[in-house]
Amino acid sequence: MIGRLNHIAIAVPDLEAAAAQYRTALGAKVGEPQDEPDHGVTVIFIDLPNTKIELLYPLGEDSPINGFLEKNPSGGIHHVCYEVEDILAARDQLTEHGARVLGSGEPKIGAHGKPVLFLHPKDFQGTLVELEQV
Ligand code: CO
Repeated sequence: MIGRLNHIAIAVPDLEAAAAQYRTALGAKVGEPQDEPDHGVTVIFIDLPNTKIELLYPLGEDSPINGFLEKNPSGGIHHVCYEVEDILAARDQLTEHGARVLGSGEPKIGAHGKPVLFLHPKDFQGTLVELEQV
């Protein structure tokens, strides 16, 4: 069921500084900031040859990233995103195996305009997992 690693998301305390570091120090192809009000984040995607990095910065006071940055003031890995072909089938298979889906349990539209779901980190070795239908 699980497909490619779509991206690794890193929460950052300074989006401009992080983007500049990837652009200049690492020579990466860095995209433009995108606001995602439904998810409470501003994101910048960085294209790597085999996957992407998603820089995450809080958008709004209720952003889920605020608490993460309070606990991790220098930033840190926030989630990994795996591709699946059928997100509802993947969700049903995972919940049958004891995983909990965050939020309503229904997919939301994610940063790439495709349906996404998040799985509870306590059910995945302490790692927040995003599933994206491709
Ligand atoms: Co993501």
